[in-house]
Amino acid sequence: MPAVSQRAFRRLSIATTVGVTLMVLSGEAVRLTGSGLGCSDWPTCYHHRVLAQLSFHPLVEFGNRLLIVFVTVVIGVTFLAALLRRPKRADLVWLSAGLVAGTILQALLGALVVYSKLNPYLVMLHFLASMPLVVDAVVLLHRSNRDYSRRSGTLLVPTTVRHLVNLGIVLLGFVLIAGSATTGTTPQAGGAPGQLVAKRIPVELRSMAQLHADFALFLVGFTLALVVALHALDVPERVKKAGRVLVVVLAAQAVIGYTQYFTHLPPLLVELHVVGATSLVIGFVHFSLSLTHHPIEPVLQGSFERDNVAASRVAASPATASSVEGPADGAKLPEMAKTTISS
Ligand code: HEM
Repeated sequence: MPAVSQRAFRRLSIATTVGVTLMVLSGEAVRLTGSGLGCSDWPTCYHHRVLAQLSFHPLVEFGNRLLIVFVTVVIGVTFLAALLRRPKRADLVWLSAGLVAGTILQALLGALVVYSKLNPYLVMLHFLASMPLVVDAVVLLHRSNRDYSRRSGTLLVPTTVRHLVNLGIVLLGFVLIAGSATTGTTPQAGGAPGQLVAKRIPVELRSMAQLHADFALFLVGFTLALVVALHALDVPERVKKAGRVLVVVLAAQAVIGYTQYFTHLPPLLVELHVVGATSLVIGFVHFSLSLTHHPIEPVLQGSFERDNVAASRVAASPATASSVEGPADGAKLPEMAKTTISS
């Protein structure tokens, strides 16, 4: 079997991450155009017809299914490439296997959504289940060219900060659950001319949106406080920057949330809200990953060489961490980077 190079595998990881994100956004577009039942069967579109009729809703749903098939192939190829990658890495194999399994589960869940005529709890689960896939893809991409062998990592912040960032991710989970429950109470799903009106969650939109906004504002306050505290600590600029970006995206997301609520949920704004939610998932994972330094894998040369040299010096002599010139992204390793962690 041919070997897959690290560089080729990284390219595939990029394609997978973009593909998984596009799947979330295209699924949302299906919901927002009222095309969820554009194809009323699964895996065929309508009874024994595999292809969609030439009208708007079937074409939107069918286009979404085509995209899913394409991305599934990319994910499958990434998994095969992980098996053939040299050097072979168990973490990359498991992460890409997770994407394969997750996509299969999502396809089955998607079938249940269609058969149940858009049951709101299943739609909610379908949306929420796509978030771990995004996390998996981002972690895969991050690890695809970094050395994650045992004891290769260096924690760049105090352990408490890492716990607080993990807590932020849990809070984000609550915001997402409440957000998709809010969607289940909105009048939008189904109901396009000629289609069935899907059942809704029997709670007032106002109350659910209030709960969702309360969680969201708590998360904004929590993250802001954490990022302000980070700026008072001796941590690398790249960690501070990841935190600042996160706060800005969170604030923008809250503004979009209120605007869409008070303007009666225009589909484009709701789609933008989902782009924001997906970006926040990516942002929080990136923030969490930025708290540790892992050197670029040794075999890759060229622009990554400087990073390797700096990192191997850190690994060889943790006590001198603060005197080592920073990694390629310009981050200076602080005093607390003395903790070498195992992956
Ligand atoms: C700041 C962090 C926030 C995040 C991460 C977030 C995330 C989400 C998510 C994931 C959904 C479900 C989308 C779907 O299933 O299609 C949603 C829906 C919604 N969010 Fe937020 N949200 C945030 C803030 C807010 C705020 C402050 C409000 C203000 C009221 C708000 C109002 C809504 C409404 C009304 C919906 C239902 C939209 C619809 O499906 O028609 N969100 N949000």
